[in-house]
Amino acid sequence: MIRLLLDTDTAGDDTTAIMMALRASNASLEAVTINCGNVDFDQEVRNALYTIEVAGKSGDVPVYPGARHPLLREWETAERVHGKDGMGDSGFPAPKQRPESKHAVDAIIELVNSSPGEVTLVEIAPMTNLALAIRKDPAMARKVRHLYFMGGTNQYLGNVTPAAEFNMWVDPDAAKVVLHSGIPMTMVGWEICMRHGLLEGPELRRIAALKTREARFMTAVTRQERRFMKEVQGADAVSCPDSMTMAMVLNGAVATDVRKKFVDVDNESDLSRGATYVDHLGVLGRRPNVDVVYGASERLFREMLFRMLKGERV
Ligand code: BDR
Ligand code: CA
Repeated sequence: MIRLLLDTDTAGDDTTAIMMALRASNASLEAVTINCGNVDFDQEVRNALYTIEVAGKSGDVPVYPGARHPLLREWETAERVHGKDGMGDSGFPAPKQRPESKHAVDAIIELVNSSPGEVTLVEIAPMTNLALAIRKDPAMARKVRHLYFMGGTNQYLGNVTPAAEFNMWVDPDAAKVVLHSGIPMTMVGWEICMRHGLLEGPELRRIAALKTREARFMTAVTRQERRFMKEVQGADAVSCPDSMTMAMVLNGAVATDVRKKFVDVDNESDLSRGATYVDHLGVLGRRPNVDVVYGASERLFREMLFRMLKGERV
């Protein structure tokens, strides 16, 4: 069993990633931690708790609120993409489960330290909680089994500025700490998710037609993103960056081409704030610190997604 701790700014596709983890036959989701990111912080907490409830697991997975603000920057959210509630403005009821009182940073440190080498971290949000955990307990970094993060871009355009992907852009200072922490990690960049994880009109209609609780939920949650994508990209589509990352965590075969590279993030300039740089040629002569995903299986990802949406084990 893969033991997972998931750090999320729950809105949009974060919910699909959570549901996928909860349906995994080879993994146990032991904790969810919340980072500032997509929408209002307390709303993100409610969204995570409600998603767990939709998956039929209310009360089974503790949810720990964490960083309510990036390390150094003003926090800018993404309601335009995901709706004011981050859930397609669906008006979902309040969740039954309450959040934990322990801070996410302590939850991360305690879980990793309690089982050295066993806990896999999945980051689908800005990296503030992880950076704070590493700063509070630097020795923890050596005890993480692996970190998978959705963030950055590999020689591609950004989605929040021309240069940067949202998770890196919100807290590039935190990303800097994490990238240089020595934790063994895998990067799933925005470009891979756009190339291989974009669901378009016919697939979205197939999902809506499933009529399961999970499929209805996904259709509602992604409603605003679908409008946004039409408006901004002229495409009838919904992106799956977080669930695609989770699929790779649960099934290594979803990542078809992975290469070890040195990766850094810009936290100094304005224009390229949060831009990630992958040293393809090794020209910097720095020791590679990241397994970068260069290719992904669209077929396997969709198989896993549809199994989850049908209420089956993934
Ligand atoms: C990332 O930003 C968030 O809006 C998504 O959930 C994903 O984690 C994509 O840039
Ligand atoms: Ca996210």
